[in-house]
Amino acid sequence: MTETASAHLPTFPMPRSCPFDLSPQYAELRSERPITQVQLASGKAAWLITRHQDVRRLFLDPNLSANGAHPEFPALAPRKQSFDEQSKGFLPWMDQPEHTTYRRMVINEFTVRRIARMRPRIQEIVDDCVSAMLAGPRPVDLVQALSLPVPSLTICDLLGVPYEDLDHIQRHAMIMVSRIHTAQERAAALRELRTYLGELLLIKGKQPQDDMLSRLVVKHRDEGRDDHGHLTGLALLILVGGYESTASTISLGTVALLEHPDQVAALLADPTLAPRAVEELLRYFSVADNVTSRIATADIEIGGVTIRAGEGVLLSNAAANRDPSVFVHPEVLDIHQDTRTHVAFGYGIHQCLGQNLARLELEIVFRTLFGRIPGLRTAVPVTELPFKNDAIMFGVHEVPVTW
Ligand code: HEM
Repeated sequence: MTETASAHLPTFPMPRSCPFDLSPQYAELRSERPITQVQLASGKAAWLITRHQDVRRLFLDPNLSANGAHPEFPALAPRKQSFDEQSKGFLPWMDQPEHTTYRRMVINEFTVRRIARMRPRIQEIVDDCVSAMLAGPRPVDLVQALSLPVPSLTICDLLGVPYEDLDHIQRHAMIMVSRIHTAQERAAALRELRTYLGELLLIKGKQPQDDMLSRLVVKHRDEGRDDHGHLTGLALLILVGGYESTASTISLGTVALLEHPDQVAALLADPTLAPRAVEELLRYFSVADNVTSRIATADIEIGGVTIRAGEGVLLSNAAANRDPSVFVHPEVLDIHQDTRTHVAFGYGIHQCLGQNLARLELEIVFRTLFGRIPGLRTAVPVTELPFKNDAIMFGVHEVPVTW
């Protein structure tokens, strides 16, 4: 479809009507035109997929490529030409067989068993954050006090990244995932982080320690690979993918639970509900809705529509996660709901590498936070919270809380 022909299409992204509700357009489209074209800020058109069954089917379709460096890829933020070179090693943008090669290099680090070993350390990090909140002045910003430190300190521990470098990393990572910064600013932030991690990997190669980056660099060397750029990109994605989405889910999940005191009471009365509550919050917010884009490499027939080779496709995990044909109360937060088939972590070969880690962090955070601060409440009305409608990942900039 040409750029002029796309002018009458609905525009994408479709902003949330309130922090807890997706744009009503999603529901309309899912019921009337579940596979439809939308217009991106770039002026290009792309197919938006909103039904759970279509989203899952297309996540598995080998004729959809994840190659984000493709010139026709439906990017949601402007990119510099040099992005192609800078995105080397980005696992979510690789297709088979390259994707399998690189995912295999790290998959063992993220198994349920391996991640479970981190429980005591994550609990310690969460306890320290909550103790500092209790000892400090009120109100306190939950984002800075808990949501950001927990996943960022955890991922630093796992990778072997020094804590003192976190400020530098977070400053640049924030620009990388923002839609309001220019393509030049985002490319510069990416370059800076690549340089930092590239140097850190060289140090790890010379003096390997008991951390993931050291294991990765040694394995890479033992296998006779010499592409430092790929390894740097892989490490970068794990570092940055590791905290932004989890931090957002901690903040939004806390706000949502505070709005539903009956569900907090149920959770505290029966802590075994925590894993279910986490899945429900992941489904309900689907913070990574805007990261699951693809480009067709061959014509695809689906639901009476032909997606042509070269056309962009947006697989909306948020819309799929509110599909009434799959979830009993899709618009309601209900921690008792069966959410096993949610796609907040994607589906298929690119399904989130860090999902077991995210689940563990979220479970520990919600149990500890509500268990230790029973009178927790937001210090301003929820409607006044600065939600992130400008970022690639949905979230909230600041959540003042008190008790
Ligand atoms: C609430 C937390 C999280 C959410 C909602 C989330 C969501 C997602 C989604 C939707 C994808 C699929 C992208 C696609 O299909 O194109 C994905 C992939 C990925 N995620 Fe996560 N994620 C979370 C936490 C994490 C954590 C903690 C890490 C790292 C420790 C991580 C690392 C990755 C990586 C490396 C990929 C690419 C996997 C591949 O392409 O094979 N994520 N994530």
